[in-house]
Amino acid sequence: MGGALTQRLGIERPLLAFSHSEHVVVAVSRAGGMGVLGAAQLTADELERKLAWLDARLGDVPYGVDLLLPGRYEAADEGGLDRDALVAEVPLAHRDFVQGILDDYAVPPLEEGYTFGDQVDGRGVPVTGNHTYTLKDTWPLVEVCLASRIRLFANALGVAPPEVIDAFHERDVPVAGLAGTPRHGEKHREGGTDIVIAQGYEAGGHTGEIASMVLIPDMVDAVGGLPVLAAGGIASGRQMAAALVLGASGVWTGSVWLTTEEAETTPVVREKFVRARADDTVRSRSFTGRPARQLRSAWTDAWEDPANPDPLPMPLQGILTAEPQVRISRAAEAGEGRAGELVNYFVGQVVGRLDAVRPAAEVFDAIVTECDRTLDSVRSGELAAR
Ligand SMILES: Cc1cc2nc3c(=O)[nH]c(=O)nc-3n(C[C@H](O)[C@H](O)[C@H](O)COP(=O)(O)O)c2cc1C
Repeated sequence: MGGALTQRLGIERPLLAFSHSEHVVVAVSRAGGMGVLGAAQLTADELERKLAWLDARLGDVPYGVDLLLPGRYEAADEGGLDRDALVAEVPLAHRDFVQGILDDYAVPPLEEGYTFGDQVDGRGVPVTGNHTYTLKDTWPLVEVCLASRIRLFANALGVAPPEVIDAFHERDVPVAGLAGTPRHGEKHREGGTDIVIAQGYEAGGHTGEIASMVLIPDMVDAVGGLPVLAAGGIASGRQMAAALVLGASGVWTGSVWLTTEEAETTPVVREKFVRARADDTVRSRSFTGRPARQLRSAWTDAWEDPANPDPLPMPLQGILTAEPQVRISRAAEAGEGRAGELVNYFVGQVVGRLDAVRPAAEVFDAIVTECDRTLDSVRSGELAAR
């Protein structure tokens, strides 16, 4: 393995790990892949601190950052919608419904004075990070990235605005973009994205309708020679090898790191993941307003019930659920009420394979070793002779 993409990124193996845990980022980058820090939920100060922490541990070893930047956004002329205006748009009926879920499962309020990050807005409503997903809110994070030594910038919500792509290119930092359809891949190419991440239906988090087996070769054919990273459904070396055989230049993984020792997942969620099977996930709009694959739980079931309100569009659903989700997570860890039935997290269908908590470096080695062995058996004709 090894080629133009690994050279461009300065890594040994084309195995990239998206993670909200800086500890996973360090482990994967040190192992010879590339860790990419999911930073959409952070404030600019938090991101700056995390990047300084990473620099102290990684030195010159490459790593990346991933944000949720909208290419087009509402009220663009004014720099995006105002957060207070958005908070006021959340209907009371939805607030009552969420409160009803919390009451039914005996989830206590956050203790007096508890805040998370510095994200309590003017109305006293806690808001984790950038739940408005506007360029106005995200721009300070972009500025932190531009001043850093990251070696890859990735964007999840469509093509990054041209001024962002240009700014990274001026610093010789390649820009990657997630795409769930070949058409989106083409838009990335037209917009100046350097690496397209083809993310299939089975992936954890926000995801589209096309499965990786179909999407990867279609994307490779659609993007006119741009390198494609395959994402969605990759947690083993055989899956990585299959993605390379389908034409990808490398793989972009998320879920497989969630049951590592270095993951950000809480013990209750990690335990749920270890027990879960591939068909225990659901694509639900209940967290952010856009379909995102996650573990099925009493929370997703409540939002699926046709008798209940539909989730709000992004970003309103995220604003509505940010504080309740923190309550649910904390109560589940403390064993309070029946919060353990509600608690869940984004994860893909590969959750069925995640059956133990292991160090991230061990997971990395297992994937690349099995991938090498599989590709060897392809080359030697052993697979064809089956
Ligand atoms: C917990 C979790 C959170 C995610 N958040 C983001 C995100 O903020 N930005 C992004 O580009 N992708 C996000 N993703 C998607 C990953 O980048 C990746 O494409 C996906 O996990 C790959 O599929 P897999 O889960 O089957 O490995 C997230 C995935 C998970 C599991």
